[in-house]
Order: sequence, then structure tokens, then C-alpha cells
Amino acid sequence: MKGVILAGGLGTRLYPLTWATNKHLLPIYDKPMIFYPIDTLVKAGIKDVLVVSSGPHAGHFLRVLKNGKELGLNHLEYAFQEKPDGGIADALALAKDFADDGPITVVLGDNTTDADIKKEVSSFKDGAFVFLKKVPDPERYGVPEFDSKNKIIKIEEKPKSPKSNYAVTGLYIYDHSVFEIVKKIKPSDRGQLEITDVNNEYIKKQTLNWAELNGFWTDAGTFASLFKASSYWANK
Ligand code: TTP
Repeated sequence: MKGVILAGGLGTRLYPLTWATNKHLLPIYDKPMIFYPIDTLVKAGIKDVLVVSSGPHAGHFLRVLKNGKELGLNHLEYAFQEKPDGGIADALALAKDFADDGPITVVLGDNTTDADIKKEVSSFKDGAFVFLKKVPDPERYGVPEFDSKNKIIKIEEKPKSPKSNYAVTGLYIYDHSVFEIVKKIKPSDRGQLEITDVNNEYIKKQTLNWAELNGFWTDAGTFASLFKASSYWANK
């Protein structure tokens, strides 16, 4: 299994901090943000990783991550997303050659968790797998709707009336067909290729599975969540 960390985007909600560098290099307590998703992958046994970045500060990653050896990686590659806010699925498209016809585990660069995803990674066969977490503010996220057997029948992106209290977190496992799906989907109203649209395609094929993420999880893309993440890791 190979890993992909999506660290593009503009990080506009963290202006003025992201005028100086890329969001994923800002500190969560005592480490740059991107160290956390890298650590999640390494702990799951994934040591062959692609970092996708974009925007004016993409060059800063090389200075911080170097060849990845100090972080426990065997192999680290970089890719550059030309449209910095093209969307999560647009960034993922750049991993096609890297994936080399195999499955990939994808983590958003601003997600931090102490959950162990090793079991799901090692038992993954095909289709797609998403990790859910109960949250007090589901309207900020992709929100799953379940049938009576707890199967996800639809994911809605930032719904006004969420159908459940779960968020789809920024950790995903995909088989190689994800790259065909990304090619097929169209930009949303906000002009982005949405990962929720990709996941809904897997739902249509009845090949999307899920588990609840077992541990602390937050994104760190707003001042409130960045503070929450830093406080959690400082206490831990
Ligand atoms: P977002 O937080 O939705 O977007 P953003 O990072 O551009 O921030 P803001 O809304 O404040 O401007 O994206 C979540 C993660 O997905 C982000 O940490 C990196 C990744 N991402 C990409 O790699 N490419 C993209 O085009 C986008 C939009 C996000």
C-alpha cells in the first residue's frame, strides 16, 4: 500500500498565517502540521508516500520534509497541483502514476488523529473505504446518510440539514478505479472537484465501506480547530 498526502489548497481561512507559508507547515503544538498525517501513514505500515502541494509556498515542503527518512519513510515523492484550489479530487488525480495500478491510502494534510488505521489498510481489497467520526457540527463536512442496515446510501457535502451526526474524515482508501472516477466527475458550484462526488460514485457501485475512526480526530484548517488540535497534542 502506498500513501498520498494532499497538501494543496490556499488555506484562506488561516490568513494571515498562510501568507507566510503553506498551511500544512504551520505548527500543531511542537511539529509542522503535515508530520501528523505522515505519522498516521507510517504507523499503518505505509512508507512510500507522495505529497501533493500547490500555491506560492510549495517549495517550503522540501526544506522541512527533505527525503522523508527522518520521519520514517522509505520513499518520498512530491507533486504540484497547478490550480491551488482545484479541489481535493483534483489534487488526488496527480497520484495516478505514483499509485502504479495499486490501491492508495489518502490523508488530507490538515487532518490529525491518534487513531490506528493499520487493520483497515492491511485488510483492504477493492472499492473504497472511508473513516467517519461523530461531530457536533456536521454541516461543516461531508455527511453520510445511512439505510436501516447502517450502509451509507449517500454523502452530502456541507448540508444545511445533516442526515446524521457523522463527518466523513479526511482519511480514505481507494482502489485504482478512483482515477477513472476523478476523470468523470464535474466541478461543483464552488468550482472544485469534490472528493464527496468521488465517494458517491463508489456508493452507486455499492463498493464503499466505512468504519468509525477510533481515537481523537480533527482537521486544523480554521483557527478554532488549529487551537483544538494543538491543545490535544500538548496535553497528550
Ligand atoms: P480545505 O480546507 O477544504 O481547503 P483549503 O486548504 O484551500 O483551505 P481554505 O478553505 O481555508 O482556503 O481542504 C482540505 C485539505 O485538502 C487541505 O488541507 C489540502 C487539501 N486540498 C488540496 O490538496 N487541494 C485543493 O485544491 C484543496 C481545495 C484542498
